Amino acid sequence: MCGIIGIVGQRDVAARLVDGLRRMEYRGYDSAGICTAHDGQLLRRRAEGKLVGLVNELAQNPASGSTGIAHTRWATHGAPVEKNAHPHATEHVALVHNGIIENFKELRDELRADGRTFESETDTEVVVHLISRRIEQGLAPEDAVAEVLPRLRGAFALAIVFRDHPDMLIGARLGSPLVVGYGEGEMYLGSDALALAPLTQQIAYLEEGDWVTITRDSATIRDLDGNTVERAVQESGATAAMIEKGNYNHFMQKEIFEQPTVVAQTLRSYLRPGEQRVALPQIDFDISSIDRVTIVACGTSYYAAMVAKYWFEQFARVPVDIDFASEFRYREPVLTKGGLALFISQSGETADTLAALRHCREQGQVIAAVVNVPTSSMAREADLLLPTHAGPEIGVASTKAFTCQLAVLAALSAHFAVKKGLMDREEEAEVVKHLLEAPACLNAALDHDEDIAAMAHLIAPARDVLYLGRGADFPLALEGALKLKEISYIHAEGYASGEMKHGPIALIDDSVPVIVLAPSGPLFDKTVSNMQEVQARGGKVVLISDAKGIAQAGEDCMAVIEMPKVHPLIAPLVYAVPVQLLAYHVAVAKGTDVDQPRNLAKSVTVE
Ligand code: M6R
Repeated sequence: MCGIIGIVGQRDVAARLVDGLRRMEYRGYDSAGICTAHDGQLLRRRAEGKLVGLVNELAQNPASGSTGIAHTRWATHGAPVEKNAHPHATEHVALVHNGIIENFKELRDELRADGRTFESETDTEVVVHLISRRIEQGLAPEDAVAEVLPRLRGAFALAIVFRDHPDMLIGARLGSPLVVGYGEGEMYLGSDALALAPLTQQIAYLEEGDWVTITRDSATIRDLDGNTVERAVQESGATAAMIEKGNYNHFMQKEIFEQPTVVAQTLRSYLRPGEQRVALPQIDFDISSIDRVTIVACGTSYYAAMVAKYWFEQFARVPVDIDFASEFRYREPVLTKGGLALFISQSGETADTLAALRHCREQGQVIAAVVNVPTSSMAREADLLLPTHAGPEIGVASTKAFTCQLAVLAALSAHFAVKKGLMDREEEAEVVKHLLEAPACLNAALDHDEDIAAMAHLIAPARDVLYLGRGADFPLALEGALKLKEISYIHAEGYASGEMKHGPIALIDDSVPVIVLAPSGPLFDKTVSNMQEVQARGGKVVLISDAKGIAQAGEDCMAVIEMPKVHPLIAPLVYAVPVQLLAYHVAVAKGTDVDQPRNLAKSVTVE
């Protein structure tokens, strides 16, 4: 979602601000802007659409100044047009905002009654007026901000620049991330460490309610109550190279191909191959006493949760509830003492998932989180952090984070079973053996990239596509449909294959391709029966199976995609590859913006 960067520097900052915005493009946005403080003025430049608009605007109207803020906006309140683009400004103050000010209407009414006029439809503009009003009344910037922050309800990360104080910026966070970067004679604000990667590796992560004043050589951080606090400065480890495409055409493509490496990397933290054992990070609670698991997530992470439900129930015989984070709190879930609440998130910042985590903490649940960004809010707030080691995921469509989540969840479910006395040493060794086979099987699946690219033209013209799967491959059908929808804009649905004849089969005709995920194994015959019901009605099937499955059932299919023969435990990891590649090549064939599809943001930090 919105990206923020701010620099208090020693020379003109506009070019570096735009560079910072470029590094945050992956977050998703629909307009951009910057504002510098220079020579007793605030110089604001904004443009709708991609960054090139802002770059052109700056070429025509340069903005000098060694202090400035910049923003990529993902529209929430008000259309993605220039007047709603950030920064929002008065004569005295300009600011950028990530999040939603929930009480903006009442604040706007108050400000209007005070004679102030608004130029945008955004929730953000009230904040700039509230601060500006106090400055116009003679308050110093920090006093004005200290007075205004407690009046804001909702979520925000803010970066604020002041006309009459060109050597400082103020930043604040509540609900949306913001980091402080420490440079050599310069200081920075950013939405994440990646945004600041070429500028500095020295990062302090603001905590909930913190706000900070930065100058060229200092950062004064205060908490919600205004007390000065220390936040550790850490080496971020983020490098500019992490967000480069290398020889690939798109980040999504690069990330799909990274999967064998990052899954192996992730498994290294959860398995002890020599001893053929599953090994989890130190756990401070008795996992064998957990009698119920609640898994909460969104999007692709939710589909990882669906797969995990099969594993937890099958191996550890523990009942599992799964829920979309956006629904979870509002259905008043019954959370009994002794339950484990597990949150899955690539970013660790998804607003709904984070809110659900905090709700579960209030309800006395033990909190575990499978998270890819180790410095994220969820990672910091969990009792048990189970990191995925996928590295930065830049493409909006989640790929490598998903397979790494599955790797962690498979290990966790086996560990759970071992601790409950439901998996003996021999069975544990089998699980370890199969998980260790995953990277090679992912490589074998990737070998079919060219075949999949060659058949993308069969899917690209479709208006609707169905994906079918059974058992743990059903979530993969949902994931395949989500991937196709989000990057190729083709309407797609995933169904449990046995559900077809309860309604969706009415959709079948020869214009609706049906992608069937059917590894040979215990559920193969039943899935193929459902596939044949589709074919009997003129449906055009793409069968994704192994050589044996294809030999058995591939004959009348429009196309087949061959996967290596894999153990059912790792089938969801391996079968993720063809659905990702299919969506990718269809999107390329359609010419859509693969890495930054329309309307989408990488990390959804508003509810
Ligand atoms: O960062 P998270 O895993 O919490 O994000 C959840 C979803 O927003 C995310 O998976 C989204 O659905 C992706 N665009 C799917 O490719």
